[in-house]
Amino acid sequence: MSERVIPLVDQRVASLPARVPAEPVPATGLLGDALGRPLRDLRISVTDRCNFRCSYCMPKEVFDKDYPYLPHSALLTFEEITRLARLFLAHGVRKIRLTGGEPLLRKNIEILIGQLSALRTVDGEPPDLTLTTNGSLLARKAKALREAGLHRVTVSLDGLDDAVFRRMNDVDFPVAEVLRGIEAARNAGLGPIKVNMVVKRGTNEHEILPMARHFKGSGVVLRFIEYMDVGATNGWRMDEVLPSAEVVRLIDRELALVQLEPSAPGETAERWGYADGSGEIGVISSVTQAFCRDCNRARLSTEGKVYLCLFASQGHDLKALLRGGACDEDIASAIGAIWQRRDDRYSELRASLPPDASGGTRRVEMSYIGG
Ligand code: GTP
Ligand code: 5AD
Ligand code: SF4
Ligand code: SF4
Repeated sequence: MSERVIPLVDQRVASLPARVPAEPVPATGLLGDALGRPLRDLRISVTDRCNFRCSYCMPKEVFDKDYPYLPHSALLTFEEITRLARLFLAHGVRKIRLTGGEPLLRKNIEILIGQLSALRTVDGEPPDLTLTTNGSLLARKAKALREAGLHRVTVSLDGLDDAVFRRMNDVDFPVAEVLRGIEAARNAGLGPIKVNMVVKRGTNEHEILPMARHFKGSGVVLRFIEYMDVGATNGWRMDEVLPSAEVVRLIDRELALVQLEPSAPGETAERWGYADGSGEIGVISSVTQAFCRDCNRARLSTEGKVYLCLFASQGHDLKALLRGGACDEDIASAIGAIWQRRDDRYSELRASLPPDASGGTRRVEMSYIGG
């Protein structure tokens, strides 16, 4: 077997300034990017740390004890995050997702959730407030998260077989504890709960059917995610991607499926329902069927840079504006101008790009900008 070379990374080197444009970009909620895509979804990373070491995201060999995680002073404070979230909402954002790393590792996250849940969209509605977690701390925290104002959670779980799951999280974490977290979330009213399973051919494909059987009829929406070439450290290979079409075919052979209509434009998942009415699953096919055309997602990194694509190599530094004393109007204009210029559509272009199309700068890690 040939050895994989896993390069060292420091995504903080590359950064673009966030400039206040000469012409203000007023926050009308009607912002469109260069391809006409609105801004609807803001994903906020609250920590670049995680207590798991999933090989497709934070491989142990790179994210070891010497890895240069961000120092506390570099992180946006809760007040800074809330201020930016308010300005993004004014530009049309409807959904806010907290991510990481593992967001439940951020101390006092409930306080941030409380602040975000008091914000409103341009229509005067509370934003859909959700969080992606590996579930390890959920049994302990679900109730407090709900009480703070969180609406729902998405839990990552890559299989039900304990040995397989322990190997994939690479810190020997047991399945049972994540299932306990999912139950606690359900009891706390953090639904509809979604479970995300990253499928790697040759690693956990045999877990697809047991996962489908387990969650069928439970009210939990299980979603299968194609293993992506995100970041620069996971040693991605196309032959480890199991196309979603195969996942659907496999499940449909035992548990009949019918395709469902999308529930919102720009959705990541294609929805399938069980023919007997006992719930639905989703498939997220970013490799075999790109969904950039309607991509309405902006990502705010832990240290306050806005990334316009999961596969971007550089973020626009909003923290410099925040800490430089800029007023709300100027920051909102800067956000507006950044979005108006956006033409990213990496997954659509993937097939036609040379193997390293990053122009010398390294793609950002998912643990740094969040899934
Ligand atoms: P809800 O359905 O509203 O809960 O949110 P969502 O569909 O955005 O789902 P979630 O945040 O759970 O995303 C699921 C997975 O899809 C992520 O973990 C990523 O693997 C992938 N994903 C999410 N957004 C993008 C995106 O913009 N581009 C690509 N290529 N993949 C994405
Ligand atoms: N491919 C697909 N999804 C990934 N995630 C992280 N790394 C990858 C990858 N290489 C997603 C998973 C996980 C979430 C936190 O990030 O969906 O549940
Ligand atoms: Fe942690 Fe999630 Fe990345 Fe796994 S996928 S290492 S749980 S952030
Ligand atoms: Fe959006 Fe980039 Fe993902 Fe395409 S690859 S859907 S543009 S985040």
